[in-house]
Amino acid sequence: MVAYIDTAFVAIRMPFPRIYVQRLFDSIAPRYDVLNRFLSLRLDIWWRKQLVRSISPADAGRALDVATGTGDVLLALQNLNPVFSVGVDLSAAMLTRARAKVAGNGTALVQAAAEHLPFPDESFDLVTIAFGVRNFSDLRHGLHECRRVLRPRGLIRILEFSRPRGIIWKRVFGVYFRVVVPTVGRWVSGHQEAYTYLPNTVSDFPDGEAFTGLLADAGFHNVTYETMTRGVVTLYSGSVSP
Ligand SMILES: C[S@@+](CC[C@H](N)C(=O)[O-])C[C@H]1O[C@@H](n2cnc3c(N)ncnc32)[C@H](O)[C@@H]1O
Repeated sequence: MVAYIDTAFVAIRMPFPRIYVQRLFDSIAPRYDVLNRFLSLRLDIWWRKQLVRSISPADAGRALDVATGTGDVLLALQNLNPVFSVGVDLSAAMLTRARAKVAGNGTALVQAAAEHLPFPDESFDLVTIAFGVRNFSDLRHGLHECRRVLRPRGLIRILEFSRPRGIIWKRVFGVYFRVVVPTVGRWVSGHQEAYTYLPNTVSDFPDGEAFTGLLADAGFHNVTYETMTRGVVTLYSGSVSP
């Protein structure tokens, strides 16, 4: 599906300050994986698998996973045998968990912001982002940075939560996101706001054609999207060359 939306009018919510996001993920890092598996009923593993399946090994080359968190995408990318892979994240505590998973596999981990990637132009063949763009303090700038570091025939794959389709599923997931996720999240992580932050960032984040329009604005071509699990998650794809 190609975007025909005028993205000049796509509203992007007021971003959370980067330091707030960094501290939030620093504080939930020890429980992040356990909560992810539990709250998604292990679907998060399947969603990331779909992301990796959408890439052929020949395209993996030099791979950059932005907002890598605890490194689950980097780990899944190993199946594609990339020449090397790099994970970038704001949170040192999340990267510490990633290090334990991917150390010694030709993978480097770098603490940096997506909006200021510390790499020269055209350094990578592939950029992936799973459940990260929603947190960027400057979404348009972050997407431009991803485009900048990709070589001319490079690819981008982005997984992100989206608004479910259909009235019944909207209600079911609405209750789940607004009641179950914050309650269980608060209880297990011990963090008051972190799992309230999640539904808040999902509900007003551009999805579907609005998001593909932002990718096109950032200079990506062949932008498509595919919804999963009744629209709860969307996989966006694009390339640098037309
Ligand atoms: C919901 S987690 C996703 C982690 C991982 N990609 C996954 O699939 O589980 C979001 C991650 O994005 C990171 N993050 C948020 N804003 C960022 C930014 N502007 N630049 C780099 N990382 C960012 C957070 O520190 C956190 O580790």
